[in-house]
Amino acid sequence: MALTYDAVVIGGGPGGYVCAIRLGQLGKKTLVIERDKLGGVCLNVGCIPSKALIHASKVYRKAKDGAAMGIDGSDLRIDYAKTVAWKDGITGKLSSGIGQLLKGNKVDVLVGSARFDGPGRIAVAKADGTSETVHYGDAVIATGSTPIQIPGFVYDQKLILDSTGALALQQVPKSMAILGGGVIGLELGDVFARLGTQVTVVEALDKLLASMDPDLVRPVQQKQAKLGVKHLLGHKAISWSKTADDKVDLLVNDKAGAEVHVVVDHVLVAVGRRPNSRDLGLETLGLQPDAKGFLTVDRQQRTAVARVFAIGDVVGQPMLAHKASAEGEVAAEVIAGKPGAAFDHMVIPNVVYTDPEIATVGPMLHELEAAGRKVKTGRFHFAALGRAMTANAGEGFARVIADEATGVIVGVQVVGAEASELIASAGLAVEMAATAHDVALTIHAHPTLAEALLEAAHAATGHPLHQLK
Ligand code: NAI
Repeated sequence: MALTYDAVVIGGGPGGYVCAIRLGQLGKKTLVIERDKLGGVCLNVGCIPSKALIHASKVYRKAKDGAAMGIDGSDLRIDYAKTVAWKDGITGKLSSGIGQLLKGNKVDVLVGSARFDGPGRIAVAKADGTSETVHYGDAVIATGSTPIQIPGFVYDQKLILDSTGALALQQVPKSMAILGGGVIGLELGDVFARLGTQVTVVEALDKLLASMDPDLVRPVQQKQAKLGVKHLLGHKAISWSKTADDKVDLLVNDKAGAEVHVVVDHVLVAVGRRPNSRDLGLETLGLQPDAKGFLTVDRQQRTAVARVFAIGDVVGQPMLAHKASAEGEVAAEVIAGKPGAAFDHMVIPNVVYTDPEIATVGPMLHELEAAGRKVKTGRFHFAALGRAMTANAGEGFARVIADEATGVIVGVQVVGAEASELIASAGLAVEMAATAHDVALTIHAHPTLAEALLEAAHAATGHPLHQLK
């Protein structure tokens, strides 16, 4: 017998499960169809496990480099298999927590692969070979994205890894080449470099994290270089072969076309992700993704087909879990008929969990300059901040960017320790249209890293306190 629901959400990642919870709360009879584990890429093989390894590797490195604080880490060793088991325990706990949340909100979950079968119908292929037909009133496509594959670099998850394979390694490799100096390349490059792997980053462009303002990236690049990471900028991976002792002989070309060989235990490919819009039966709805595979939606997350919505990575950049969740809430509220629900792209924080971390909200400075926007900026270096010194974390700075005429903050950028946490209050400031003066008037606890924002706001008003003009 066919199943019938008010709303069906395809995909149980941070977009889909949040959307389903909200639909349940709004009284809709809701089903989530997920072919793998609840929590999607972010929770199972992305944000959460990578942050666990980032933390563990930082603990290790801090102890190893603790001589200035009187800590002798010379005999330190890591049982990496245990670290990985600890990480897997966290993702397992969180995934089952989502199951409970869905259940508590009366949302059903069906495990299987969903495919549209004409308007109002979804066919679900289950692991046991059987299939189920589901009828829906409204459908939400929240199918996420998949790592892009470079021709010739087929993922075998032994020698050629994607981020999932890299997160599942059971021992610390001696050497690793990473194709792509973007977010994943730098975050995971940091992890393995801190644990002692000889890391080589091969980036096609002549800079790392190319979309960021260069001065935000510089402290990260310098710290990686200190750890021994080699950055081959303007280099392209051409091919690879297996050596007699089961390593990878990677061939890359430099800008001039000269050949460079890098022999490593593994190659991690992190050159971007593509939307999961294939094999969804979209043609049975008359729904056509764009040339890159993204689905076009309006501010209420509606696709071109009535009562079919889409959220998260499958609708385009930025591919961030928190953007997907926010879009999921909007879609649920629109489906439930709540007036005024619409997605606003202006204040989406962006965090890169490198060391130091980079966190931004609002446009990049170079984008504002290119658009001819008149702004004033205030900057404060962590090196001048007492709390940063006590945390042995003097690298980086916070920058407040405000409209020149009104002082309203249009963006905040932090490169430094705990930037990922500091950016929350900056996001609130932008969302509430605060001026740099408002932030400067806000009493910040002392001593804290958040004082970097306070001081940067003071500087943006033209009256810096703890720095000379
Ligand atoms: P990315 O777009 O950040 O970086 C890919 C890099 O690979 C670019 O610098 C590009 O120039 C380079 N590249 C492309 N083709 C190449 C080639 N053939 N050889 C060498 N370099 C090449 O993509 P990444 O790091 O794979 O991450 C995918 C997505 O995952 C990101 O767009 C991001 O939205 C999301 N993500 C977010 C995180 C966060 O918010 N902290 C963490 C990890 C991923």
